[in-house]
Amino acid sequence: MVLENIELDVNYVRSQFPAFKDPLSKDWSFFENAGGSYVPKNVINKLTEFMTSTKVQPYAEYSMSKIAGQNMDMATKLFAEMINAKKNEILIGGSTSINLYVLSNALKKYISSGDEVIVTNQDHEANISPWRRLQENGAKIIEWKFNPENHELEIDELRKLITKKTKILAVTHCSNIIGSVNDLKKISDIAHKHNIIVIGDGVSFAPHGFPNVKELGVDFYTFSLYKTYGPHIALLYGKEEILKDLPNQNHEFLKNNYPYTINPGGPNHEELSSLIGVYDYFNNLYNHHFDNNKLAILSKVKKINQLISIHEENIANPILEYLDEREDLILFGKNKIKNKNRAPTISFIGKNKSAKQISSELVSLKIATRNDNFYAWRCLKALGVDVNDGVVRISIVHYNNKNEVKKLLNALNTI
Ligand SMILES: Cc1ncc(COP(=O)(O)O)c(C=O)c1O
Repeated sequence: MVLENIELDVNYVRSQFPAFKDPLSKDWSFFENAGGSYVPKNVINKLTEFMTSTKVQPYAEYSMSKIAGQNMDMATKLFAEMINAKKNEILIGGSTSINLYVLSNALKKYISSGDEVIVTNQDHEANISPWRRLQENGAKIIEWKFNPENHELEIDELRKLITKKTKILAVTHCSNIIGSVNDLKKISDIAHKHNIIVIGDGVSFAPHGFPNVKELGVDFYTFSLYKTYGPHIALLYGKEEILKDLPNQNHEFLKNNYPYTINPGGPNHEELSSLIGVYDYFNNLYNHHFDNNKLAILSKVKKINQLISIHEENIANPILEYLDEREDLILFGKNKIKNKNRAPTISFIGKNKSAKQISSELVSLKIATRNDNFYAWRCLKALGVDVNDGVVRISIVHYNNKNEVKKLLNALNTI
């Protein structure tokens, strides 16, 4: 993938993130991005602005309140544009786990006794347990298992699982352990032929480039904004035609006000408002690299996504290659990223040392990482990994640079 010979200017990128200069974090090579990313100064500024000038109840006529409301609406509108959704197709909630829980509660209305719900064993538990819970409403749970040889979810397997009774399919866009990107477009096309509602978990995908939800074709899509350079909140997208028919879970008088009907309560005002800063950061990133400022934000996002993918591929592939070659380590998932078929979320274990031991030794060498099951315990079990010790996970985003990768490889050599 060559993009007008333009490369991501990582020095510029890093200059936007105060954490790289902060005394507490500046000496660390930060590889725990899949847990939560750093935030650019635009987000911090928007948050501070809201808390300083507009920390009042929004949507009244006095100026502080009016501006608070305008900023909240603006943040929602901008994020909708970035992912190609309509403003009333977006719900901001406390976390992806909460968003999926309230969604599954609302989708109960489509489940009758004996209906089938497909979940995977590659997902984070957030996109499994709310759907498994539909058993209480009479649903039969069918598990789409990944191939134990290559760790991939195979679409031919899915085809075998679909029946006339299948109503819901919950599948991750990208595994937070294996890193593989699943073809949600193809999966949605197959599912829709059988009138199945598809819920895609984009938490491990979105930090590497905001998705175009209409192109993906999914009915619902979710990601955690605290992993996409924002504060600790999460976004749920839902197709308007489905959203508007879901039962009201909010106050009775709000019954026609979708998407606010899904969540019993509103969003965190200051954090929602600070999402304007995420937009500003990406817009600045575009302007720093490209000339045509007249493009729609969706087209800008597409170009930035390509820059990010090339950079991530360049810095992550040497790590994958290194881990794959080490006889004493076991790497999970593909050993090379090609055309964004894998995220740079890299998990491995040792043959002679526990994941805890490896992670502690890396931390002692100023590599910020951790061992865990990362709530993907079904995935770890299927991989034959001890869920208490977990895997060591190295997760990269576009602000990581070659120097940090060098330090990581040196540290891996040392231990
Ligand atoms: C792939 C994936 N899905 C869902 C979640 C849950 O997100 P949240 O912490 O916003 O509930 C995570 C969190 O790490 C994740 O990695």
